[in-house]
Amino acid sequence: MTRTVYVNGEYLPENEAKVSIFDRGFLFADGVYEVTSVLGGKLIDFAGHAKRLERSLNELEMANPISTEDLLEVHRQLVDRNGITDGLIYLQITRGAPDDRDFAFPPADTAPTIVLFTQNKPGLADAPQAKTGMKIISVEDLRWGRRDIKTVQLLYPSLGKMAAKKAGCDDAWMVEDGFVTEGTSNNAYIVTKDGTIVTRQLSNDILHGITRAAVLRFAREAQMKVEERPFTIEEAQNAAEAFVTSASAFVMPVVEIDGAPVGTGKVGDIAPRIREIYLEEMRKAAI
Ligand code: PDD
Repeated sequence: MTRTVYVNGEYLPENEAKVSIFDRGFLFADGVYEVTSVLGGKLIDFAGHAKRLERSLNELEMANPISTEDLLEVHRQLVDRNGITDGLIYLQITRGAPDDRDFAFPPADTAPTIVLFTQNKPGLADAPQAKTGMKIISVEDLRWGRRDIKTVQLLYPSLGKMAAKKAGCDDAWMVEDGFVTEGTSNNAYIVTKDGTIVTRQLSNDILHGITRAAVLRFAREAQMKVEERPFTIEEAQNAAEAFVTSASAFVMPVVEIDGAPVGTGKVGDIAPRIREIYLEEMRKAAI
């Protein structure tokens, strides 16, 4: 089926949508993005994604071409026009397309490029992997130092994902100075043997996950102990459980790290419980 996508104010069939070869996103990865999930035809945590988008744009001194209200309308139109029940909405804003390649930013009146498209994923919240868990490898974190900005510079995470696949695993956790930063496209957690949920504290080293914020809030509300601090691969291998969070995977258990089983090597109790609470609460709050 041909998708209807959104480009610079227009809804178009995907094969008619075009962006300039001079676009700064294409030439310099000079763009930011968001991925928002859709469950039951409704948007999960749209407000959180809109707020982080604003922050990413501000950090890069990039103009925002659209109000939050209009952005919500575009998301809803795309869900509607593409008949999405469960899936994802990808949004990208770049510094636009000047008429040549130049390292210096283009004139301030250069219109940003805004693109949104849907990914149809029926049964997104029922992924079988939630029952079996993920196997991960560790790789050195060689990304730039502003990982809190959700830029489209995703080559290194993409290489990490491929290294995991080549090793027969599902994903990679990145390690800097001996401590886990995050997954290639998710935030990383362990559950210690005394039941404490541990995840790295917010800084420029990691993306400030929208799912992370909700999960930590729900965990604290459920009287679970939460510690925001770095942890090593060794600590993770010796933990009771491990898991990741993201807008596309929600809460996904990790059962193996660099060939060593985490806990029993099977999905434990805490990650599935957090996943259940997260999905239930977020479905209720979806708009
Ligand atoms: N990735 N860390 C990184 C490096 C990410 O790319 C993502 C999201 C997250 C989780 O953030 P959130 O909970 O807001 O989705 C953490 C998206 C899903 C992607 O690139 O497809």
